[in-house]
Amino acid sequence: MRMQYEATLETLENLRAESIAAGGAEKINAQHRKGKLTARERIDLLVDDDSFEEFDVLKTGRGGALGSEPTYAGDGVIAGHGAIDGREVFVFSQDFTVMGGSLGEAHAQKICKVMDLAVKVGAPIIGLSDSGGARIQEGVDALAAYGEIFHRNVRASGVVPQISCIMGPCAGGAVYSPSITDFVFMVRESSYMFVTGPSVVKTVTHQEITSEDLGGAQIHAQKSGVAHFIASNDVLCLREVRRLVNYLPSNFRQRAPMMDLRDPADRIDPALDYLVPENPNQSYDMNVLIHSILDGAEFMEVHPGFARNIICGFGRLGGQTIGLVANQPAVLAGVLDSDASFKAGRFVRFCDAFNIPLIALVDVPGFMPGPDQEHGGIIRHGAKLLYAFTEATVPRITVIVRKAYGGAYLVMNSKHIHCDVNYAWPTAEIAVMGPKGAAEVIFRREIQSAEDPETVLNEKMAHYRRTFANPFLAAKRGYIDDVIFPRDTRHRLIRTLQVLEGKEAKRPERKHGNIPL
Ligand code: HXC
Repeated sequence: MRMQYEATLETLENLRAESIAAGGAEKINAQHRKGKLTARERIDLLVDDDSFEEFDVLKTGRGGALGSEPTYAGDGVIAGHGAIDGREVFVFSQDFTVMGGSLGEAHAQKICKVMDLAVKVGAPIIGLSDSGGARIQEGVDALAAYGEIFHRNVRASGVVPQISCIMGPCAGGAVYSPSITDFVFMVRESSYMFVTGPSVVKTVTHQEITSEDLGGAQIHAQKSGVAHFIASNDVLCLREVRRLVNYLPSNFRQRAPMMDLRDPADRIDPALDYLVPENPNQSYDMNVLIHSILDGAEFMEVHPGFARNIICGFGRLGGQTIGLVANQPAVLAGVLDSDASFKAGRFVRFCDAFNIPLIALVDVPGFMPGPDQEHGGIIRHGAKLLYAFTEATVPRITVIVRKAYGGAYLVMNSKHIHCDVNYAWPTAEIAVMGPKGAAEVIFRREIQSAEDPETVLNEKMAHYRRTFANPFLAAKRGYIDDVIFPRDTRHRLIRTLQVLEGKEAKRPERKHGNIPL
């Protein structure tokens, strides 16, 4: 009897060893030669030491519809839970050394199991993708399996944060799981994402293009906006994931963890009084203001390479995580275009879903003019940001730093779409449009008939600027809660966040709104 038990123990040990050996030394070496870590090495770096608990180590597939395929313990994915700085997260990590990390029925069931548990207990889901896609031998079973994951991605959206790291191939319909998740990380030169690869592109369009140029990290971080973060290698990528998780609550019922960076709430920065240049056409870097006001000058920018005319990211004020949306006058004068509206709209919705207060820093000359933007749907895209800010029920604070013109002023978390508290710097210019455009419209005849049109235009612009391009008209109406000294911005924001702590906002009863997607 005892001998039988010992044999069982030995079997268990062997099966575990087989699962841990994954695709074997040769395949592991090949993975390392490509500059990639293995699925287990990645998990070790992602979670706290000795915190990982694995499920389904012994699970295998059924061998595929073709009948003769080998099965592997673990079926090419490692799934379980571990901690990030003491807080639980659920993880799955695809193992490229086992059948190219391809996704079959058992592989997907392992992923679904941790996703289900994550939603039950309210902890983030982190997926590390490195996969050849649907396991071809499993046919429609593999496609069905993807459907089960997509279904769970959607069900978990807004319940727990979902983070995807693309650390190898991710092609075909498989891309849609990460793209539903909240944040996508990619690793330079070892990851790519596309719906159809270079060979199909060549067949259909006769274009020659490499995987990197079609769907590498750089492209998705700068052009398509699919990747929110990119890293030079696996180690740095996983470190950044840990950093991101520390800004977030574990689920929609919780608040993000407080973190005291020992930065006094009443710290003032006299240099801010001179941040905005005298010449209204001159730009400055909004990052100076952002770093000045945040605790410890720490800011985790989301989508830093995409639509750089708007800045989105996480920081802390008085220890509390905040989501910051700021126009960037140093890029395209901080204008709102389609990409910027999409980027900020999705960020605002994430913050609202997860109880992260929103702060808008405004210096926006308007929406980007031109047929490219109009034909590309700036109306649809701009509406996303308007909708996202308007429906957000988290504390919402706005600081108008300089320009706040026209529709863009309204969209950027204005009082009129019910932000909770708004401030203006003395440099704020709140008006229907900029002085030049305005003077040309309202004084057109006078300017055209003048002997020296340019002098008249300049006079009219100066007059307009004195009348409208300041915060005082809006403050008189009560559209601005206070005109503040720039140096006090941090302190005022922290006090306002404290007072909004108990904010309760109800939405009208309905199934769900219909955001213009
Ligand atoms: C089964 C696969 C596989 C797959 C790779 N492998 N992809 N096995 N199903 N989808 C296996 C290979 O046979 C090989 O096994 C091992 O993984 C490593 O693959 P290599 O080709 O040697 O590696 P590499 O040269 O690095 O190329 C990686 C690759 C390539 C670019 C991912 O393998 C590839 O093109 N695979 C097919 C990709 C694909 O078309 N997938 C379907 C996409 S459509 P051995 O035994 O030799 O080590 C899709 C639909 C999802 O996913 C739909 C969701 C709705």
